[in-house]
Amino acid sequence: MHFLRLVFALSSASIAAAWTTYIVPHSGGNDDTLALAAALSANKALATNATILFQTGITYNILTPIAFPKFQNVIVSIQGNITYAADVKKTQAIVASSSFPGHWFTFSGTNVTLTGSQDPNWGWVNANGQKWWDAMQKVSSRVNRPHGWSFKGVQTGEIVNMKLWQPVAWSFSVTGSNNVHIHNNTIIAVSYSSSFPSNTDGFDAEGTNLVFENNIVYNGDDCLAVGSPASNIVFRNSYCNGGHGLSIGSLGKGGSVANVQDILIENVVMENSVYGARFKSWTGGKGTAKNVTWRDITLINVQLPIYITQHYWDQDVSQGSTNSSYQTSTYLDTFTFQNFQGTIDDSKGNGVTGSTGKEVVIFDLFQGTSKSLIAKDISTTTVSGSNVMVMCDSSTVSNDVGFKCWDGQYEPTIAGA
Ligand SMILES: *[C@@H]1O[C@H](CO)[C@@H](O)[C@H](O)[C@H]1NC(C)=O
Ligand SMILES: *[C@@H]1O[C@H](CO)[C@@H](O)[C@H](O)[C@H]1NC(C)=O
Ligand SMILES: *[C@@H]1O[C@H](CO)[C@@H](O)[C@H](O)[C@H]1NC(C)=O
Ligand SMILES: *[C@@H]1O[C@H](CO)[C@@H](O)[C@H](O)[C@H]1NC(C)=O
Ligand SMILES: *[C@@H]1O[C@H](CO)[C@@H](O)[C@H](O)[C@H]1NC(C)=O
Ligand SMILES: *[C@@H]1O[C@H](CO)[C@@H](O)[C@H](O)[C@H]1NC(C)=O
Repeated sequence: MHFLRLVFALSSASIAAAWTTYIVPHSGGNDDTLALAAALSANKALATNATILFQTGITYNILTPIAFPKFQNVIVSIQGNITYAADVKKTQAIVASSSFPGHWFTFSGTNVTLTGSQDPNWGWVNANGQKWWDAMQKVSSRVNRPHGWSFKGVQTGEIVNMKLWQPVAWSFSVTGSNNVHIHNNTIIAVSYSSSFPSNTDGFDAEGTNLVFENNIVYNGDDCLAVGSPASNIVFRNSYCNGGHGLSIGSLGKGGSVANVQDILIENVVMENSVYGARFKSWTGGKGTAKNVTWRDITLINVQLPIYITQHYWDQDVSQGSTNSSYQTSTYLDTFTFQNFQGTIDDSKGNGVTGSTGKEVVIFDLFQGTSKSLIAKDISTTTVSGSNVMVMCDSSTVSNDVGFKCWDGQYEPTIAGA
């Protein structure tokens, strides 16, 4: 009995002692990445059973990227503020260099937590995006922009309570990861000039068993963009304002083979967005996207609530392929759009050739490249009060899609009512 107690006491003491908390040092106007990188490289113990703390009360200058070592059981806690360099040209030179890790903050390993602060005044990461947006209104000048936060190949992880203020572009990217919970994060990519915050994606998601919930995103590109490969991804209980929608894709670029399945997007408010739910795949793409559901979506002034296109192209580069021997794309199998309610902003147009700007749904498909697509329980009105429309080519669909498939007024059918 005594012996057992002693063993227990010793082992719990050694577990407690094994946890290290490292406070990231800060020095004046210097680049705080340097001291952190030196500490991480000198002290390998910081990569296991450790907390790396950016402490409250301090505004850190992270003027060069941080690629953390492969972690095991590590918490990176952002309780202080962080700012990027204000100098766009210097930062571009860093992104252009061959040693750039691809993101400003890179995480990998097992059981990795990235947490922000719940104090409204602290824990903000200010990337000085406004300077970039103002400098880069011309498409050709949009080069060497730093991506934000990468969870790459993380096995079990969490991103919680992070707050991004004016990220330059592409906020969070979770790729090749499994079992990651991304919740309660805030992204404010709002421009205070006439410059558009281009490519400020909220969450880019690839991997397996990813749950995104309770996130708030104001931005100028996809709120969510699911890439390939991806399976079992949930995005729910969130708010997206101003961006390009809850997207799957773009898939199949350059003829690549997409593999996306079991995606559920539910209970999201989309406000002032170009699209609500969007699927985009490139002409010539291969592979399949299967079992994808968007449901319980509230629309407030959304230009186009539901949009599938297999004719995706980069709007900055060209008008898409007109090559007739290229008329195919990633296959769509079982897509459900259910319970979309709210208003369509029909004052701006939706950018789709031939549309009226009053469509609730546009299915832009090749022939024989999809099955079991359905949009049901749809209840929307246009802001102007004119009729809600749809665009759909009946030669491209193989089932009752829930509404009369034509270019005309929205009329629910048996499957859609
Ligand atoms: C880290 O902590 C776990 C217990 O959570 C322990 O099993 C493991 O040995 C520790 N690793 C190191 C390197 O201290
Ligand atoms: C995972 O990391 C957390 C800290 O974020 C730690 O409390 C927990 O013990 C770790 N899990 C395992 C299985 O080591
Ligand atoms: C989410 O963030 C808000 C504001 O920072 C905070 O009040 C709330 O407790 C957080 N929720 C969780 C689950 O951490
Ligand atoms: C932290 O950064 C945010 C966003 O830039 C800012 O609003 C806030 O005032 C900063 N907090 C402090 C205490 O400086
Ligand atoms: C479809 O995906 C959902 C998760 O999004 C999953 O719960 C369900 O089992 C999948 N259905 C099939 C038939 O695989
Ligand atoms: C059209 O695409 C096919 C298949 O990729 C290719 O072989 C052909 O050269 C393309 N034609 C033109 C005019 O680009």
